[in-house]
Amino acid sequence: MLDNGKPTSLAVLKKCRKFPTVKLSFFSEFKNFVVSETGKKSFFKDITVRFSVGQLQESPVCCFFKMFLYQTMVYVTLDKRSFKNWNSMWLSEAIYRTTALLKLERPIMNFNDKPDRSWSKAYKWQRYKGTDILPMWIADTEFRCAEPILKALHQRVEEGIFGYTLPDHDTDAIEAVVAWCQRQYNWKIDPSWLVWTPGVVPAFNVAIKAYCQAGDTIIVQTPSYPPILAAPAINKLNRICVETVAVDGRWTLDFDALEDAAADPKTSLFIMCNPMNPLGTVLNQHELDRIATICRKHNVMLCSDEIHCDLILDNVPHLPAGAHPALAEYSVTLMAASKTFNVAGLGTSFAIIPNEKLRLAFNHAARGILPWVTATGLAATNAAFRYCDEWHQQELAYLKDNRDYLVSEINKIEGLKAFSPAATFLMWVDASGLRVNDTQAWCEAKGVGPSAGRDFGDKDFFRLNFGCAREYLVEAIKRLQGRKN
Ligand SMILES: Cc1ncc(COP(=O)(O)O)c(C=O)c1O
Repeated sequence: MLDNGKPTSLAVLKKCRKFPTVKLSFFSEFKNFVVSETGKKSFFKDITVRFSVGQLQESPVCCFFKMFLYQTMVYVTLDKRSFKNWNSMWLSEAIYRTTALLKLERPIMNFNDKPDRSWSKAYKWQRYKGTDILPMWIADTEFRCAEPILKALHQRVEEGIFGYTLPDHDTDAIEAVVAWCQRQYNWKIDPSWLVWTPGVVPAFNVAIKAYCQAGDTIIVQTPSYPPILAAPAINKLNRICVETVAVDGRWTLDFDALEDAAADPKTSLFIMCNPMNPLGTVLNQHELDRIATICRKHNVMLCSDEIHCDLILDNVPHLPAGAHPALAEYSVTLMAASKTFNVAGLGTSFAIIPNEKLRLAFNHAARGILPWVTATGLAATNAAFRYCDEWHQQELAYLKDNRDYLVSEINKIEGLKAFSPAATFLMWVDASGLRVNDTQAWCEAKGVGPSAGRDFGDKDFFRLNFGCAREYLVEAIKRLQGRKN
């Protein structure tokens, strides 16, 4: 092991105002790898760095974490004795500042990490606590947030006051959303179209209150995300289900059934999900055109849940409903940074409603029911949309590899079949070939905990979440194959 870093550490220390006593030293795993003594910018420039505080190891006097420089593992040691107030927030900030000072720009996560989420009471892990079942159900990932998000949250916490923040006053976050829509979907939105909502689920329920009358019927697709299926009954309205069909290796809507459902004079709203959860389909231009034609012909409003729209794994564009010329004035588009950047627990999302009357009706229906989104959620969304592009790209690349591995291995298991989802980190697995009554129980008995297909509208399926370290997927496949080791 080489220890070349002390001069660098000192230089960093001097510049690092907030952490004047942090001592850093660098160790490389390979003898032929030399960390520049002086930390010359030329050497460090353009290096991709991955680190994870999840890999932090501590002793009473120091702690070290791993970084990857040019595929080489490097340990960075911090001398704890020189910290007055040691805690992980300081460390995270110190790492961020250190990498920034060394021009190790845009630190990237190591998606292979398997963080221990028990301390945060993560719902995904709580459900199977105390069992040997690997949780692969609820739709959050095992990926630690991008550093700029953590930094923004740390800064917000440092302020130390959590009084009211009126979302409309957070022009930074609003501008970040506007710029994101332009950059990601070539969709020019006016800031006034934006309505912050403390979750997409409350948002589509508010849309129902805003746009439906007693006795109305709401169209939903099956299978679909359970709270979408539940929304009509929650609001004491009728539901009509439009089935999904398999066409050329992907799932899509049964458009004839959609036309029939929309033609019912009682039908007033279609709650769509694009990209589809659990199916992973991204609607193409032709499909969106058909939906627009059907909805306009029968005067049906569209509420489009697009929470997964920044998780497109194939080379296809996401086409927001509100950006479609025939739908802009008759739709509500629901989006969030939550799935993509793993901040769902911060309860912040937004609706884009170009039509003023529809927007007023939505806001009216939300009065007294929906709280404002949180200050932390706004800070995280702002940071996600402004500073995390490279992390996002790396995440998509990692998810794509995970998906390819999983779909190929699932299809090798007798009784299981799956299409490759074009988007999301969710795979809809057809287990009808197993010929068992309870596919969920079959999975759990093998030590894997997916989402139960029956909750989405098809008991012969289950949904696997592949937003995790590849090692978990390998383990899940081994278990589903019934191999011991
Ligand atoms: C399609 C879809 N909509 C909404 C949500 C939840 O949104 P929120 O947590 O913002 O209410 C999820 C979460 O899995 C989802 O998959």
